[in-house]
Amino acid sequence: MNDLRVKLITYGCQMNEYDTHLVASELASIGAAFVDTVEEANFVLVNTCAVRGKPVEKVKSLLGQLRKEKERRKEPFLIGMMGCLASLEEGQAIARKFGVDVLLGAGAIHKIAEALAQTGAFWDVGFYREIDEVVPPPPRGTLSAFVTLIRGCDHRCTYCVVPRTRGPEVSRHPDLILREVEQLLEAGIVEVTLLGQNVNSYGKDDPAYPDFADLIRRVAALGVRRLRFVTSHPMNFSDRIVEAIAETPAVGQYVHLPVQAGSDRVLRRMAREYRRDYYLERVARLREALPDLVLSTDIIVGFPGETEEDFQQTLDLYDEVGFDAAYMFIYSARPGTPSYERFEDLPREVKVERLQRLIEKQKEWSLRRNQAWVGREVEVLVRGPAKEAHWVEGHDQSNHPVLLPASEAPVAGLYRATVEQATPHLLFGKVAERLLAAPEPLEAAS
Ligand code: SAH
Ligand code: SF4
Ligand code: F3S
Repeated sequence: MNDLRVKLITYGCQMNEYDTHLVASELASIGAAFVDTVEEANFVLVNTCAVRGKPVEKVKSLLGQLRKEKERRKEPFLIGMMGCLASLEEGQAIARKFGVDVLLGAGAIHKIAEALAQTGAFWDVGFYREIDEVVPPPPRGTLSAFVTLIRGCDHRCTYCVVPRTRGPEVSRHPDLILREVEQLLEAGIVEVTLLGQNVNSYGKDDPAYPDFADLIRRVAALGVRRLRFVTSHPMNFSDRIVEAIAETPAVGQYVHLPVQAGSDRVLRRMAREYRRDYYLERVARLREALPDLVLSTDIIVGFPGETEEDFQQTLDLYDEVGFDAAYMFIYSARPGTPSYERFEDLPREVKVERLQRLIEKQKEWSLRRNQAWVGREVEVLVRGPAKEAHWVEGHDQSNHPVLLPASEAPVAGLYRATVEQATPHLLFGKVAERLLAAPEPLEAAS
């Protein structure tokens, strides 16, 4: 199609955000223009997520609207679907129902130009190594950027679709990663987040590659001011990695380490491969090496067969660790996963009630942990205006969301600030010094 006007819509995690950026750069190279609304577009491409029922429902309702739009249009209008849901049979059935023209699984998104060069529908759900050779140019209008290290997952958590949506673990060549980071630094990026479903496994699939610990050192040595990574699996979080973090100031002392549950019985049924004690030992090791550790986690409540006693063990574990933050999910039975096939779902009321109790626990701890930062100095990367009038928002080196007075931080950039107040979800600070201003206005906070 000549005169391609593209509207991109992204659901899901940071890996999907990176993938949308990758596809956008491929589209730009064939002369596509990007528009802000569906009305202005003649190609709407949706990057999808399948991890829980909710994102799948959102994609369905969006595709319903797009189908109507297509029926209204007199000129050609293409609907594209890519990413995790597109990789699954479930997603392909949805795509057929809604008349999707271009469908690219999570391992085939680099084929977007080829797809658009065809007349008629183009579907590809393969997993191709060439995807990792794409080095997208730096994003504009931001000071932080993502870099994918490794795609796929070799674990087999019984509730999870990701091993099927993203395929087996494949690490990117270290030279490509380093080149991508260098380009980001040249473009003025100050914060790089390394991405993978399990970044700790980096390099396992190729003996010629460095392991994750050495890769962190090599990336930091390029001069990255702030280096972060998500996400980690406790089983692959080795002492070598803990040491590399402790030795690399750019990484700071923030770790996201999903625990999922506090009961050994539930962990076994989830096939998480570790026990509660092992997780606690990893946390103790981290705290020993990183005295200012800020730790966040993921927890699933209401896994099939979770008893009140099992759930109490999750609450106990929370108290034992004292997480700074947690992403908490109600178990969602996903077709095709082992837990969907094998176990019966708990009643919704039970799951919702447990989630509420867990949220109370999380608020208590986050408030307590955040209050410990009052009076301390932090370095805040300010993105833009906050939802609250007269404040701007950003995050510090430990990933705390921080608000600063707009009068003291009028432009986006990096600020040294003192924390004056804390709530369970936010730190409020006062600017001490501006360290760096963004080269151009950043996108407004959404
Ligand atoms: N690879 C990462 C996480 C991938 S998905 C890891 O292992 O940590 C992000 C989070 O979604 C998971 O940590 C889990 O807490 C949650 N999740 C995954 N599948 C889910 C399901 N079926 N129901 C509810 N939450 C789920
Ligand atoms: Fe899913 Fe488990 Fe792999 Fe994470 S480690 S992506 S939860 S299978
Ligand atoms: Fe969703 Fe795929 Fe990420 S299922 S959470 S977009 S890896």
